[in-house]
Amino acid sequence: MLSFIINHGVSEELMENMMEVSNGFFKMPVEDHAELYIENPKATARLYTSSIVGKEKVCNWREILRLSCQYPLEQTINSWPPKPQAFRDIAAKYCTEVRALILRILTAISEALGLDPDYLSKCMGTHRQVMAVNYYPMCPNPELTFGIPPHSDPTVVTVLQQGDLSGLQVLKNGKWIAVEPIPNAFVVNVADQLEVISNGRFRSVEHRAVTNSTKARISIPTFYGPSTDAFIAPAKSLVIEECGHPALYRGFIFEEYLKKYKSQELKSKTVLDCFKINIE
Ligand code: OGA
Ligand code: NI
Repeated sequence: MLSFIINHGVSEELMENMMEVSNGFFKMPVEDHAELYIENPKATARLYTSSIVGKEKVCNWREILRLSCQYPLEQTINSWPPKPQAFRDIAAKYCTEVRALILRILTAISEALGLDPDYLSKCMGTHRQVMAVNYYPMCPNPELTFGIPPHSDPTVVTVLQQGDLSGLQVLKNGKWIAVEPIPNAFVVNVADQLEVISNGRFRSVEHRAVTNSTKARISIPTFYGPSTDAFIAPAKSLVIEECGHPALYRGFIFEEYLKKYKSQELKSKTVLDCFKINIE
């Protein structure tokens, strides 16, 4: 499931500023990026083109700036890009506001599922937020590669600032459909852990991004999910065998899922399949 969210409380100005400093970052000369190109996936700030170099059959047309958001942010932001000048301040404000929005979304989804308002939040241990800036350069042969190939996100929800160029596509009834941007709206993706916890009531959305032959595109996703030690399983009240709702997934520690996710090429839902319970 993918939705648009408007009147979300994050100011238009902050969204624009975040897009502007992201643009500024990718416009800087490569020397200014070099220090952030680091192998360590645990680094608080990291710039890379693929998390699974060598496993991809076709290279993706994307650079990713990935910022881990640990609160309070004062210390964390010291490892974020120092340039453009306003980057740290704006990114800190942005991720704080997006986090507040996500916490409201988690409450609303918990309630929609008939669970306690803090159910999802409690399932997620100490929570983990990662903000990314995807940069898709102009691509001379868009038909030869993807910006990001088909996948579902590994977390609970993703809140995406799409930018004003299309590129995002979603799989619906076996067809890829372009998700045209709506100004100032966020895209909210249901991600894999929400499919598990909701026992399939919410389905994680399969999506991809295509490239553009005339313009570079930037998108800014915020991934929000459990800490690695969290136990993820279908909520007990949503498993009702006698009403045709058997448990669809076995429980697992989130770290186990992440190991599987990282060990393979990005693909749609194949990781989630590893935790499925076979129902006759
Ligand atoms: C992602 C993603 C889509 C986009 O980063 O996981 O799906 O439009 N991005 O950039
Ligand atoms: Ni995604």
